[in-house]
Formats: sequence, C-alpha cells, structure tokens
Amino acid sequence: MKKQIRIAVLGLGWMGQAHSRSALRIPSLFPDRDFDPVLTVCADTDASRRERATADFGFARATDDWREAATADDVDAVWVTAPNMLHVPMIEAATAAGKAVFSEKPIGGKPEQTVQAYALAKAAGVATGVGYNYLWSPLVIHARELIASGALGEITHYRGRFLSMYGSDELGLLTWRFMMDEAGYGVSSDILSHSVSMAQYLVGGIAEVVGMRHTTITERPLPSGTASHYGRGNPGDPTGAVENEDFASMLCRFNGGATGTFEVSRTVVGPESQNAFEVYGTKGSLAWNLEQINELKYYRTEEGPNSGYTTIFGGDRFPFHGAFAPGKANSIGFEDLVAIEDFAFMQSLATGGGFSPGFAEAVDVVSVQQALIDSWTSRTWETVRDLKAAAS
Ligand SMILES: NC(=O)c1ccc[n+]([C@@H]2O[C@H](COP(=O)([O-])OP(=O)(O)OC[C@H]3O[C@@H](n4cnc5c(N)ncnc54)[C@H](O)[C@@H]3O)[C@@H](O)[C@H]2O)c1
Repeated sequence: MKKQIRIAVLGLGWMGQAHSRSALRIPSLFPDRDFDPVLTVCADTDASRRERATADFGFARATDDWREAATADDVDAVWVTAPNMLHVPMIEAATAAGKAVFSEKPIGGKPEQTVQAYALAKAAGVATGVGYNYLWSPLVIHARELIASGALGEITHYRGRFLSMYGSDELGLLTWRFMMDEAGYGVSSDILSHSVSMAQYLVGGIAEVVGMRHTTITERPLPSGTASHYGRGNPGDPTGAVENEDFASMLCRFNGGATGTFEVSRTVVGPESQNAFEVYGTKGSLAWNLEQINELKYYRTEEGPNSGYTTIFGGDRFPFHGAFAPGKANSIGFEDLVAIEDFAFMQSLATGGGFSPGFAEAVDVVSVQQALIDSWTSRTWETVRDLKAAAS
C-alpha cells in the first residue's frame, strides 16, 4: 500500500509548475516507489494561474490565500515556490502546522533568512528539502562518486561558474528578482547558491573567501501585472532602479586545502545558462556544464602524454537516468532533475529515510555567502563561519 502524500504548492510560476508536473509524472517514471503524490491545493495571487492549477494540472482546489494552503488539514507537504521574500513566512506557517517543506533556493533572499527557516524547521521537527536541482543530474552524481573514490587523486583546484543571460537585455523587466525587498541579494543569492551547493557536494566545505560584486544594468522597465522571468519591456517605458548585484565572484580555499574560483552573472552575453564546474586533482580532472547536461568530460593522467579529455555521455548506467530514457546518450533535461529531486524527497517522507540537501545544507551555502558579503565591505579574506551555530 503506497502512502499518499498530499501536496500544497505555494506559487505557480516557473518552479511551481515544474514541481507540480513532477507530481503528475512521478507515478509513471518511478513505479517502484512507496508513495502516491496528490495535488491537493495550489496558492497563487494570479487568477489565471489558479485557473491553470485546477484545469491543467488537476489540483483539487486553488486559493489566493497561501496561508490556507500551507496549513490545510488535508496537506502533508508544502512546496515553497513563490518569490524569495515570501519563503520564510510560508515556511513559518507550514512548519508550525507540522508540514514537511520543500523550498526553492535560495530560501529567503538573505543569509539570515535561510538560517531563520532552518531554525523554524528544526524546532518543529519537520522534514525539509531545498531545490538545488542540479545536484540530481545523473552525471553530477557520477562525478561525486568518481571524486570520492579517489579517481582524481588529491583535489587541488575547483572552478565554479553560473553565467546566465536572463538579465542581459536592458529591456528585461524589473521583476521581483531585481528588488532587495522581494529577492534579497541578487546573483549571490539566486545563482551562486547553485554553484556553491555544487562545490560543497562535490569537494566539501569552504574555509575562507574573498570576492567582489557589481551591478551592470542599473535601470529596467517596470512590469505591469504578473511578469515572467524572461518578460521584456519597450524603449521609453517607465523604469525603476535595480537594487541588487548582477555579478559576483569569489576566490576561496576549501577545508581540504584545494583552491577555488567562482563567477556568477545574469548580465553577460554569450553563455545562456552556463552552470558549470571543473574539478582538478593530481590524477585527473572532470568538467560539466548545464548547457551540455548529458556530457561529463574526464581527463586521466594515467592515459599518458598523448591523452586528452574523454566525453562520458549520460545514460541508464548512471543513477535515475533510466527512469526517463533507456540506453546511452538519450538525453534528459532540466525538469527531469526537478522530478528526480521531488521523487527522492517524497520517497524519504514515505520511508522515513533522510533527505539531502535540506535546510541544513542551505545554511552551509549561505554561510559561504555571508563571508562573501562581509568581504565586499571589508575588502579582505573572510573566514566562513557555520551559521547553523547561530540558529541553536
Ligand atoms: N532551482 C531552480 O533551478 C530555480 C529556477 C527558477 C527559480 N527558482 C526559485 O524558485 C522561486 C520562484 O521563482 P520562479 O522563477 O518560479 O518565479 P515566478 O515569478 O515565475 O513565479 C512566482 C509565482 O508566485 C506567485 N506569487 C507571488 N506572490 C504571491 C503570493 N503572495 N501568494 C501566492 N503566490 C504568489 C506569482 O504570481 C507567480 O505565479 C524563487 O525562489 C527562485 O529563486 C529556482
């Protein structure tokens, strides 16, 4: 008998839709599961999205009151997929009502808000998950296994970057992502969280950092009504000021002694969604890039002086891939990673097993972000302090 997991989704934008589709796809993708997802209630302030929630996704009901959805008696688990500043109040309500919570990153918009969410969930004793979806790429899991096996030797250097064009158009709308009171910090919250979580997953903790930030496009057209992530205004439209950073970079030293560099930007042109890493060890190196999500580059010194990088294609020999496509080099994509994380989270709820990454790992990420933010002001190296200590 499968356990029913009754779901509330708070915000039916890009990620709310992606997680809702996961619930619809999981039964056919993962027949060997211990649960059945049930789309119980969706909350959104936009009436057309509420209409889609019930008509297209099959939610039993939709409401404009997220509190009602987050605390409803017929809900077991809450997905927090609204703009960043709503995360903590939503998590506060859901955890107080004893619900398991899966929150999109960055969990609030500032490090202290992530810490607050962690403290709330810990006090309530509820299960948590966070949407570092790229950690669930089958080839990233394989990379982690290779590194852990010692195949790369001692890790000497890590290079992480997330170069995106989503804010590169000067006519791109001034959506919530660019506002301090709605998003919190800019790319250091939005996409550096993906790069740092990836580095910590692959190589381990970060001990100290120094970095810089910059806002490249300082004014943007004001949106009217609900604006999409990629919405565009017209020349001459009224504009408003961008309040957070477009670019952030960081040098770091890992606890294990390796050096690291990170660069994230939403305003460069060229790289369209270059969420990428390179890991260098004494015996080999690995490179992966979201833009070629189904390819892992592997270099081995044991191949001798005439060797070079080889390409490992994704395939059903790697974890989870076979749920989507059999054989080798039949590709999977962005929403497949979301389905994998949602499957793993709900499976952990059904079986009582642990789940990672949860809110504790999110605090590990913002502990690094806080040291980076401190270095923007001090203009010197900053030690990474574990902010979980501040929560207890
Ligand atoms: N993991 C990833 O790859 C990834 C990708 C994109 C976004 N995200 C994260 O997901 C979250 C949402 O981002 P998005 O791109 O889906 O945003 P979005 O703007 O597309 O969607 C947000 C939705 O929330 C709704 N909303 C706003 N205020 C609300 C309220 N008071 N009550 C109920 N609903 C409300 C909006 O109407 C909209 O439908 C953010 O935290 C973002 O950082 C993660």
